[in-house]
Amino acid sequence: MMIKRRQFLETGLAAAAGAMLFSKTSPFAMANPTGNNSRIEVLLDEPLGTISPAIYGHFTENLSGVVYDGIWVGESSKIPNINGIRKELVEEMRKIKPPVVRFPGGCFADSYDWRDGIGPRNKRPRRTNFWADGERPDAPASHKYDPNEFGTNEFANFCKLIGAQPYLAANLRSLPAEQFYRWVEYCNSPGGSTTLADIRAAAGYPEPFNVRFWGVGNESWGCGGNFTPQQYASEFRRFTTWVPEYHQKLAFIASGPNVDNWEWTRGFFEEMAHGERRGVLGVYGWALHHYAWNLSRGRTEDWMAGKGDALNFEAVDWYELLREGDRMQGLIDGHWQIMGEQDPQHLVKLIVDEWGPWYRPGSELTPTDQLEQMSTLRDAIFSGMTLDIFNRNPEKVAMAACAQLINCLNSLYLAHEDKFCVTPVGHVFAMYVAHQGGEALRTEFSAPNVSYERDGKPASFWGLKGSASLRDKNLVLTVVNPHVSDPREAEIGIRGARIQSATATVLTNSDIHAHNTFAERNVVTAKSVTAEAKNGMLNFQFPAASITKLELALA
Ligand code: AHR
Repeated sequence: MMIKRRQFLETGLAAAAGAMLFSKTSPFAMANPTGNNSRIEVLLDEPLGTISPAIYGHFTENLSGVVYDGIWVGESSKIPNINGIRKELVEEMRKIKPPVVRFPGGCFADSYDWRDGIGPRNKRPRRTNFWADGERPDAPASHKYDPNEFGTNEFANFCKLIGAQPYLAANLRSLPAEQFYRWVEYCNSPGGSTTLADIRAAAGYPEPFNVRFWGVGNESWGCGGNFTPQQYASEFRRFTTWVPEYHQKLAFIASGPNVDNWEWTRGFFEEMAHGERRGVLGVYGWALHHYAWNLSRGRTEDWMAGKGDALNFEAVDWYELLREGDRMQGLIDGHWQIMGEQDPQHLVKLIVDEWGPWYRPGSELTPTDQLEQMSTLRDAIFSGMTLDIFNRNPEKVAMAACAQLINCLNSLYLAHEDKFCVTPVGHVFAMYVAHQGGEALRTEFSAPNVSYERDGKPASFWGLKGSASLRDKNLVLTVVNPHVSDPREAEIGIRGARIQSATATVLTNSDIHAHNTFAERNVVTAKSVTAEAKNGMLNFQFPAASITKLELALA
């Protein structure tokens, strides 16, 4: 009885909110022919800004199976490769138009000497990898002792092959500032101009790599040096005070907060603004990291004990992960507001360069890959929801990177030796390509909340959400239905235009645990379904646990 009453209240409230929302000029001003209680209205006259393609970026750390086995197989390998880089990965990545890739870390970055990764490959030193202590005894040697075969040249070549811009993270903890600008010199000085340019040319790269994006340390509040925000601001200033530009303005990305560490943001910006030199103007981006890891429903804050399982989970764990991911909007708003205290014009943008779910070990397809986890339909929904949040904040989020690209955490791809598969997350990135560079539009979603039980108490999660973008007369609308079992039918209308025709692509599965493996590569893929516009509007049923992309031609 209680549950029925609650459902009634929620449905009633949502309907009331919908009535207020849809004004007389909206396409819903007319009687609702289908009697739907869910509506989506795209407001053509409320543009939010251009969606930076760079929010669809990737992260490749030199961590366990990411580089060695995932990306780099070597030129003499039997595995099909292009200059040592896994060919199938290159081909798949081309489909998702990757705008930018971050390398070499992560925590690894603050232990890395870029000089180890240049020059003839057979002369490069082997070094103990930052992540060596976490490797299993039977892990390949390259995971523990970095052979440095994949260095700056190989990374730049990888980026070129897939059409992405490189984003290099510099070592602030264990190298002097000089090595930062020398690395820039190696990458960017014109052919024949410097000794480092000659070394680059001798390796087959006479033309500069023109790397624009430079991370100045990583997680400097933790593995990147355990600095205070004031100390880090001072280091940031020292590292960036003189760096040669070679006719290209460099974009320095400062190591921002972990999740809701507001003090880190406030401390850094206050110190920068009141410091002696360039103030916040030297900062292009402020890197925010948010992993959804604590699925304990408030029982613990312990980093190990709080994690959930990637594959074995209940509906309540599904919603818990989405709740953790849904915090992203509040993190963006909260840090943005604090940044604005010292940077009222908001010249500095947010760069969410590590995001995704993080589960406990145990679901690895390749057991010797540290931090590898199986991406399921749940992670696809999480990823679509996160990308929608970025789409809805184009003025604040300039760049993002999913952690990580392959064989690690929220992977788009899994690979081992000659085996390869695209995960459900990879398919989501392929669906969302259509948003890149579009004009984001405010979109109102009105749907009853999902009601479920959380440790004996009623809990709820939003019923439908997504994002919309426009290019010419073509609108892309992505919509997440997070309900584990119920489809949701909604009416879709455009305020200021009529829908002439529609195509729909849906990613879902009847099993919320569904995932792809090397043996069964296509369990979760995106499929085309019929969508028919009528009277300038569209009625569409969003399947349970799904992501839908609607491509609408407007008139
Ligand atoms: O992505 C794995 C690790 O998570 C990164 O190295 C670090 O930046 C973060 O803590």
